[in-house]
Amino acid sequence: MALQDKVAIVTGATGIVGEGIARAFLDAGATLICPIRRRAAAASLWGSIPDQLLVRPLACSAGKEAGLRAALGSPDTARLDTPVDDYSSAEGSKQLARYVQVKHRAVDHVVACTGGMVPMGALTTVTAAGFSQAMHDRVLGQILLAQALVPLLRDEAGSSYTVITGRLGEMCSMPEGALFAVSNAAVYGAVLALQAELRSRPQRINELRIGAVVRRDSEEENPHFPGVKAHPASLVGAEALKIAAGSHSDEVVRLYLD
Ligand SMILES: NC(=O)c1ccc[n+]([C@@H]2O[C@H](COP(=O)([O-])OP(=O)(O)OC[C@H]3O[C@@H](n4cnc5c(N)ncnc54)[C@H](OP(=O)(O)O)[C@@H]3O)[C@@H](O)[C@H]2O)c1
Repeated sequence: MALQDKVAIVTGATGIVGEGIARAFLDAGATLICPIRRRAAAASLWGSIPDQLLVRPLACSAGKEAGLRAALGSPDTARLDTPVDDYSSAEGSKQLARYVQVKHRAVDHVVACTGGMVPMGALTTVTAAGFSQAMHDRVLGQILLAQALVPLLRDEAGSSYTVITGRLGEMCSMPEGALFAVSNAAVYGAVLALQAELRSRPQRINELRIGAVVRRDSEEENPHFPGVKAHPASLVGAEALKIAAGSHSDEVVRLYLD
């Protein structure tokens, strides 16, 4: 199997695309760490826990965790680790890194597949708040993850860090997706900067750019785009697996399905 004995982090695995990637990596033999964002209500609980106890999963966000485990065929905890924290925040991404370092020491692959929706609207209707939300959720989140997780990558040429993006950014096929275009283009830049920073290091940094609407394999359509043709996330999973198991380096791999 392509990822036998490899350890991989897949963020955003509770989401549509991330679930497909997580399944492909599990099927390829990897041990997976899929962090779960905790519910806001659990934040105060986390804050009250002494520092030395932070390195273990908390029994919160149970619904998301159970849903992900079921969707992935209920693998045992040795194959699928689901630590809970708000890894989209600066502090949470550091906590995640600390957890992974203590429990797994190092990882072979990271797939950063986070983001979700942005406020929809044409560019001339974008508000400052909507812009800030899109940049925070889709751009800053990726930068914080890279800062926290790149240092965990094994110092080997086989190691890889893949950022999942969308095509809106190099073209804007729907005017109301203005903030998708703006935030995706910013992430393209972040990936270029990360590639430049790690060029002298063995780890491979790549971007997987999706040009299609993607759905869960178990569903008929993407709930955000009802009635629009959608492709199963397993196709993205297969492509992400090829990148991790292959020799891609400093590449933008385009998966344009339409
Ligand atoms: N689905 C598509 O049609 C499509 C097409 C092209 C590109 N993409 C790209 O694929 C990536 C994932 O998209 P998706 O459709 O799988 O998204 P999704 O279903 O909304 O899932 C987003 C995932 O990211 C997590 N996340 C982490 N930080 C977040 C934040 N600040 N705001 C919102 N979510 C956050 C979510 O966690 P929670 O579960 O805790 O919310 C969830 O696991 C994105 O980069 C997107 O641009 C998707």
